[in-house]
Formats: sequence, structure tokens, C-alpha cells
Amino acid sequence: MSAMHETGALNVPDVMARKGGEPLVCLTAYTTPVAGLADKHCDIVLVGDSVGMVLHGLSSTLDVSMDMMILHGKAVRRGVKRALMVVDMPFGSYEESPSQAFRNAARLMAETGCTAVKLEGGETMRETVRFLTARGIPVMGHVGLTPQAVNALGGYKVQGRGETGDAIRRDAGAVAEAGAFAIVLEKVPESLARSITAELAVPTIGIGASPACDGQILVIDDMLGMFTDFKPKFVKRYADLGAEADTAIAAYAEEVRSRRFPDGAHVFGDAAKTPVREPGK
Ligand code: KIV
Repeated sequence: MSAMHETGALNVPDVMARKGGEPLVCLTAYTTPVAGLADKHCDIVLVGDSVGMVLHGLSSTLDVSMDMMILHGKAVRRGVKRALMVVDMPFGSYEESPSQAFRNAARLMAETGCTAVKLEGGETMRETVRFLTARGIPVMGHVGLTPQAVNALGGYKVQGRGETGDAIRRDAGAVAEAGAFAIVLEKVPESLARSITAELAVPTIGIGASPACDGQILVIDDMLGMFTDFKPKFVKRYADLGAEADTAIAAYAEEVRSRRFPDGAHVFGDAAKTPVREPGK
């Protein structure tokens, strides 16, 4: 991670300065220990509303609440020391009006200690993004496939193929013009991601949007291979933790049933092995 300050933390201008430079490394995190691991290697840690599907077993992000984002945001804050921390605004917390968005964004920032919020949407969110950024709330945009609009989009499909690409280009331009410091491009074709990245003065962060973007983000549980039956094309698995956990739990179950665990090494005897030293002696 290049630019650091007295606090050791990356800030919004640092992220903006990476436009066209060293790619921004971003991951989601939802818990303190995982946030600590991500923080060592990433520029941005996002408490994504994907937490609803990844940790809570929800079928979409639509049921994620402010309380869930705050709970996980607080946990992540305890693990993040260096990266810029962003928290997603959940569905229903910002679409009604700029003042509703301000109230909830301010609450997310105050209660989690995050540096910025992320919200989904393009031209329709222009005034909201302008309202928040003019009042000191850094906003990360999110266009292309916007999972909170899954019902309107008819599924988690690639967006912006052919002529529909122009609408996504306008969405990205509107959010950038309104003051967003970076914009997530999700599931769009490479040529569109390349042209939007070239047009915008702020960094684009791709997920399923090609290496043309100024940075990349993945859902951490996906790249760690936690889900054995979920393999979208845009996710590269850097580990196979789901399969490893399955093997470990099966071994534990087998050893408990056959009374091979706990063995001698994991049992307390009657006599203490090492005398306890009293404080000060
Ligand atoms: O909720 C999330 O995890 C996200 C990223 C996938 C960009 O929005």
C-alpha cells in the first residue's frame, strides 16, 4: 500500500490519486479477524451488504437492514487499521430522498467509524450523491449490475451489452459528476468497462468488469472458496477453504464418535505440570 498518513490509514484523496496508477486492491469483510487479514493486503475494505447472503443465508441483499450493517461495520472497524473502510447503504435506507440518505449515511459513519459509504444506482442517485458529498460524506458509487435491483433487472445478469451500454456509461458519469470518489462497475463487458474507466476522472473498481478498471473487488468468501457449489465466471478462487473445512469437520466427527478425541494431549490431569508463579516473585 503506497500512500499513508500519520494515522497509518489510507484516505479518500489517496484513493482518488490512484486513478490510472497502481491498481486498488479491495475486498469485502464482515468480521474482525477477517478484516484484520484483509487490512494487511488491501487498500479498501468494504462491509458489503453481501453480508446478508454470505453470512446470514438470505436469498438476496434486499432484506439487509441498517442494524446488520452497523453490527458488522463495528466488527470490521476493530480489524481495519490501514485500509480505507467503506460500508454499504442497505436497500431502502437511501432511495426515498437525499435527506433520508443523509440521515442513514451519517448514522453508519457515526456508529461504525467507517470513512465512506457505498450506494447503488446511477442517474437516479445523482442528487443524492451530490447532497451527501456536499455535506462531508464520501460516497462510492456502484453501477452496472446493482444487486439491490435484482427484481427489476430479472436476475444477476451481465449488464450493458450492446446499446444498453450507453445507459450504464451515463449512470457512471452522473455519479462521478455528483462527487463520488470511486465507482464500482459490476458485471459489465470489458469494452464498456474500458471506455468508462477512460472517461471518468475517478477510479473504477471492477467486479466481473475486466482488468481495464483502476482496481478490483471480490467478495472474500467467494475468493477463499467457502461455497463449494457457487462458481461464477468472474470469481477466481485463491483457496478452497470450504472443502478444507468440510474435511476437518468430518475428521473431528469421526474421532469423537470413535472416542479418539480428546486424546491424551488434550486432557487435563490431576497434577499441575508447571508451578504457577505468583505475581512479583
Ligand atoms: O455487497 C458487496 O459485497 C458489494 C461488492 C460485491 C462490490 O457490493
